[in-house]
Amino acid sequence: MPGTDEATKAITAATVDSFADTPDPRLRELLQGLVLHLHDYVRELRPTIQEWEYAVDYLTAVGQKCDPTRQEFILLSDVLGVSMLVETVNEQGGGTESTVLGPFHVVESPERETGDNIDLMGTGTPCVVSLRVTSADGGPLTGASVDVWQCTEDGFYDVQQPDVQPLGNGRGLFKTDDEGRVWFRTVVPSHYPIPTDGPVGVLLDATGRHPYRPAHIHFIVEADGHRPLTTHIFVADGPYLDSDAVFAVKESLVVDFAQIDDEEKAREYRVTAPFRLADFDITVEPAADEDAR
Ligand code: BEZ
Ligand code: FE
Repeated sequence: MPGTDEATKAITAATVDSFADTPDPRLRELLQGLVLHLHDYVRELRPTIQEWEYAVDYLTAVGQKCDPTRQEFILLSDVLGVSMLVETVNEQGGGTESTVLGPFHVVESPERETGDNIDLMGTGTPCVVSLRVTSADGGPLTGASVDVWQCTEDGFYDVQQPDVQPLGNGRGLFKTDDEGRVWFRTVVPSHYPIPTDGPVGVLLDATGRHPYRPAHIHFIVEADGHRPLTTHIFVADGPYLDSDAVFAVKESLVVDFAQIDDEEKAREYRVTAPFRLADFDITVEPAADEDAR
């Protein structure tokens, strides 16, 4: 009996069963769960054939938009709130809160020394970011790597403006010193729209959503024996903190980028006054056994 509940459930049961012999138990669990949820969605919302074709064409366009410096699938996951959900369910507590990776971590950051300037353009408001990395179960972490990437004061990442910015502008891979500290010079990043010239832009347009992210700097922190942390700091008092297009703001990550007028302090940091100073402590969680999975 086509179209009945009984008929649809038979399809679901057969599909779930087709994965029953998957040798990797986690892969089996993920695939069977995906089938169950997807089939429930279809049963509940009853998409038409034309809607299903539209969805297939849409996902095809998302894939076709991807290249080595453009990740439209991550962007789609971001605007659907999935990236943030995955981050959040993986948090264990006890460390600095995580947030989304985003689609612009697509080139390797150049290795830099503490105190270096990651702003290769020489424009924008001078800014110093000073970090201290500690372990949730102990003191400062020496030799932790801190990968940093950010946009310019105009709101563009280097990879978005290959004819304007040198690759590596706004990026740096640092190591912490024996006190777990690292600091670098940069410019204050701007809020910016996520890329809207692809299928994700079509989705935002069709649903009346704005594309903006509040100003932020990205970090991936890795230390031996600890869980890698992907996070941002957000510039306090900027726009869109309460309506981030990718739902990634957490209160604990909003940081005061204080204006400093003190000439002496400016000399210490090799910048000119006035400049902005962001001070932030990062705590990483000890690795758990299941992280090796
Ligand atoms: C970013 O912060 O780089 C970003 C995150 C999600 C979507 C687009 C951009
Ligand atoms: Fe960003």
